[in-house]
Formats: sequence, C-alpha cells, structure tokens
Amino acid sequence: KKVIYFQEISSTNEYAKNIAMNEEEGTVIVADIQSRGHGRKARMWVSPKGGLWMSVILKPKLHPEHLTKLVFIGALAVVETLEAFGIEAKIKWPNDVLIEGKKVCGILAEGKYSESEIDYVVLGIGLNVNIDKNDLPENIRMHSISLKEVLGAEIPIEEVFKVLIRRLEHWYAVFKEEKYEDILQKWREYAILGRKVRIIREEGEIEGVALGVDELGALIVETSTGKRE
Ligand code: BTN
Repeated sequence: KKVIYFQEISSTNEYAKNIAMNEEEGTVIVADIQSRGHGRKARMWVSPKGGLWMSVILKPKLHPEHLTKLVFIGALAVVETLEAFGIEAKIKWPNDVLIEGKKVCGILAEGKYSESEIDYVVLGIGLNVNIDKNDLPENIRMHSISLKEVLGAEIPIEEVFKVLIRRLEHWYAVFKEEKYEDILQKWREYAILGRKVRIIREEGEIEGVALGVDELGALIVETSTGKRE
C-alpha cells in the first residue's frame, strides 16, 4: 500500500481528491500539520502538530446508497484503535468519536459519484493524538480531548496510524463483502443512543430521542408524535 506523507499540507482531503482519479484505491495521505484542514459543514478543522491527519482513497464498486456505511467504518476503526490503547470511546452520529463526551476525532468523507456509481471516496480522519489544549483555539477547547490528555503521556503517532490502518482494512473488507449488517450492528454497539438530539434539516428542525440507525445508516429519531428518520 502507498502512503504519501507531508510535513505540512493545506488539507489531506483536498490533496487526496486532486489525485484520486489517477490513484489506486488504498493510497493514504498523511500530514503532520494541515494549514487549511476542514471539517463537516464547511467548518475549519484546526490541525496542529501532534494530531493524526489522514485521508484514504477508496473506490468501491457499489451503489452510492451504501456510502453512509463507508463513513461508519471510519468511526468503527477509530474506536477499535483507541480500544487497543486502552481507551473507551463512543460514536456520536454520524461519525464523531467522543471520549467522556468530548470530541477526539472527526471524520469527513468526500467523493465523486453519480446516481448509480461511485468514482471515488476520500475518507478523511482527524484524530487528536498528542494535542495539548493550548494548541487549540479557546472556543473548541472545552469540547475537545486528546489521547495524550486521557493517557497522561504522549504516544507515537505512527503506532496509532499502524493500528488504525489495520482496523480500516478489516472493516473495508467487511464493507466490500457487503456485510452491512455487521457494520451497522457494531456501530450501534459503540453509538451513543437514547439521548436527546435535535436534527436541523432544510425542511426544519426536529427534536427527539436518538434510537438507532436504519439499514441505510440514517438516524432514527423518536419525536413526541412517533418515529421519523
Ligand atoms: C468533522 O468532524 O467535522 C470532520 C473533521 C475531519 C478532519 C480530517 S483531518 C484529515 C482530513 N483532511 C481535512 O481537511 N479534513 C479531514
């Protein structure tokens, strides 16, 4: 497998997207620092030295309706990686990984696909490994946590990287075998469910209790009037 490493880059996801069409599946882009890392909903993702900032190029020959499960395998692989280092983590839908209610990892899948076909998917993972609170802007400090904080010591990022790649390989194989129920079942096991959520959509907001995910990976929320996705 090919790993492309940068000391500093704008964003591993952007780089991956630029090369994806001409690159083989499985290629990984990893950087020590991202100057313009981004998160979901056009938010920025602060990426100082000490984090694991990486993107994997995937080209599954499957219908795009299965993409949510592909995103789920990122969170699963991260939770299992943390487990390997003795840390218990949970998944908050769709794909944040939390420790003690604080965000330790964000996942951003971006891709190119038509209605019937996937050209490529870039699975971007940002994991706070040896990040100090002071390295982060004040407004996100309260909601973030790092492995260093939890363990009270630094761990080599390469070690975390190696385990994470192995877990990703495992789950991607499960995904390609179309064993979606295995993915969803494991995801539900790690997910924070039974808690109040507010879903903001174009059509308006709904509030309710997160019950789980359906077979496509959509969140099932129970509102006061009944069940809705
Ligand atoms: C989120 O929680 O909003 C998703 C954050 C995703 C961050 C990762 S870091 C590696 C990759 N490159 C980016 O620019 N973003 C993702």
